[in-house]
Amino acid sequence: MNTTSPLDCPSWKKLAVHADTWRTAHLAELLGADPARAKQMRAEAPGVQLDYSRQRVGALALRLLAQLATERGFAEWRAALFSGQKINTTEDRAATHTAMRSGDADAKFLALADSIRKEKRYKRIINLGTGGSDLGPRLLADAFGDGTLDVRFVANVDPVELERAIAGAEASSTLIVAVSKTFTTQETLENAKALKKLKFQNFIAVTANPNAAEQFGASQVLPMPASIGGRYSVWSAAGFSAACALGANAFGEILLGGKDIDEHYREAPMEQNVPVLMALLGAWNVNFLGSHALAVLPYAHRLRQLPAYLQQLEMESGGKGVDRAGQTVGYATSPVLFGAEGTPVQHAFMQLLHQGTPAVAVDFIDASVNETLSANVLAQADALAYGTGEADLPPHRRHAGNRPSSILKFRQFAPRDLGRLIALYEHKVFTQGVLWNLNSFDQWGVELGKQMAQNLLSRST
Ligand code: F6P
Repeated sequence: MNTTSPLDCPSWKKLAVHADTWRTAHLAELLGADPARAKQMRAEAPGVQLDYSRQRVGALALRLLAQLATERGFAEWRAALFSGQKINTTEDRAATHTAMRSGDADAKFLALADSIRKEKRYKRIINLGTGGSDLGPRLLADAFGDGTLDVRFVANVDPVELERAIAGAEASSTLIVAVSKTFTTQETLENAKALKKLKFQNFIAVTANPNAAEQFGASQVLPMPASIGGRYSVWSAAGFSAACALGANAFGEILLGGKDIDEHYREAPMEQNVPVLMALLGAWNVNFLGSHALAVLPYAHRLRQLPAYLQQLEMESGGKGVDRAGQTVGYATSPVLFGAEGTPVQHAFMQLLHQGTPAVAVDFIDASVNETLSANVLAQADALAYGTGEADLPPHRRHAGNRPSSILKFRQFAPRDLGRLIALYEHKVFTQGVLWNLNSFDQWGVELGKQMAQNLLSRST
């Protein structure tokens, strides 16, 4: 497989030279001078359109970025992902999350979720898990839970979160779902032990380590493959609590949405491939325009958990300083990702995005069919791009503009669209990992802190 440093790719050098011409070009002039730009710089994927006309990019830059992907062996890496090759080399594993939505995966957990929803034995489901064992199911349940069951999530070892989750619960009508791929995560095990002490006995474990779960005393174990990374696991039985919240049909729609985007990602030519374009634009902003922050602003209340989910997906995958060959990278990798739902975000940190000093790229997600929300998305994106211009404004009222953004516009937003949205970012992250010659599927950086905490605790006991 191609593990050439991007710095050694001919296109990287051309991009670095070309970027100089973009130091002075202003989006207000580009958009004003070329009305066709707004129409041309769009790409379609199932159910969603990417409008990247407000990105500080032109045809030549895009061509060079696509060439860079080719020089990095993108097509071979994408094929290796889907064919189950062990591309997670430091853990000697494949990355098989796309197999979970291919239609051939074991979906017993969906049938179990539906039977629990029908039986009425349980009134409350409490998901114990953190990272990918929490953020994905929490996002899905918050977005599309139908209220049939009271599904709650506990990720923190802080007892306050657990106390709030069990407030008013009866042990007999409460099901605990302990989700942990390794079944070694301190927070999850401590919370599970605390619930056992409180006589909560109904435990289902979701894990790739069934022996540990059985030793703990789980009455049932739902398996998840070791080849699925936590931040890519919502499609698997790790999403069980979400299936309880949504029902099997709605969860199945989410899987179909992921499959829609897998097909698009495998088949669409690069210049029309939405996740590839998102990745190329991301690398352009980070590596050539010097923007090391990405704000993801979902304009839909259902998606208020999305930024937290994407923080793990993007920064645990791309927040690395060593490439696949074990060399320290000589270039920037994942930007800092943050975000919040619109429109409340306009009363929080949009001030910095409009007039602040950090260079922040923005992904707007227009996932509502509400015209007020959509009008706000367009207004914010245009304000960032055009700025104010009038020199006669007092300085504190001026907006420099030329601040790049993309808009992902959904025609509607049903569970299938949420599956599409998650898969778009998964493939964007993977493509960026190819550009940066990174293994997007390991996360060795999280181990040191965990070990040091264990050392401190063992000293104090
Ligand atoms: O943050 C480190 C991490 O390993 C994540 O990658 C993972 O999603 C989370 O901890 C929880 O791990 P587990 O599912 O094994 O409890």
